[in-house]
Amino acid sequence: MAFAKELAASGVKVNAAYPGYTATDFDGHSGYRTFEQAANSIVSLATLDENGPTGGFYFDGAEVPC
Ligand SMILES: NC(=O)c1ccc[n+]([C@@H]2O[C@H](COP(=O)([O-])OP(=O)(O)OC[C@H]3O[C@@H](n4cnc5c(N)ncnc54)[C@H](OP(=O)(O)O)[C@@H]3O)[C@@H](O)[C@H]2O)c1
Repeated sequence: MAFAKELAASGVKVNAAYPGYTATDFDGHSGYRTFEQAANSIVSLATLDENGPTGGFYFDGAEVPC
């Protein structure tokens, strides 16, 4: 949120995404979500156009409370 506010005038967007409990090396592949599912939200946020949001927290494309 601090970076989002500081960078707002520059046009740089700062958002956070929760991948969910995802099967990776990190958790010994015990997560119940695939990395494709986890990456989907992150790629969407990384490819926002200039009208996209900033300062939000997202899970599966939906904004959730911080
Ligand atoms: N998995 C989950 O359920 C989950 C949930 C919430 C948050 N997270 C967070 O997501 C982040 C990634 O977790 P993950 O589950 O994707 O872990 P992961 O499967 O262990 O993947 C970590 C990735 O980071 C790369 N990496 C590590 N050190 C690096 C470095 N110095 N430079 C460049 N790349 C480096 C590794 O590359 P190499 O393979 O080449 O070593 C690997 O691709 C962590 O911060 C974790 O806390 C994970």
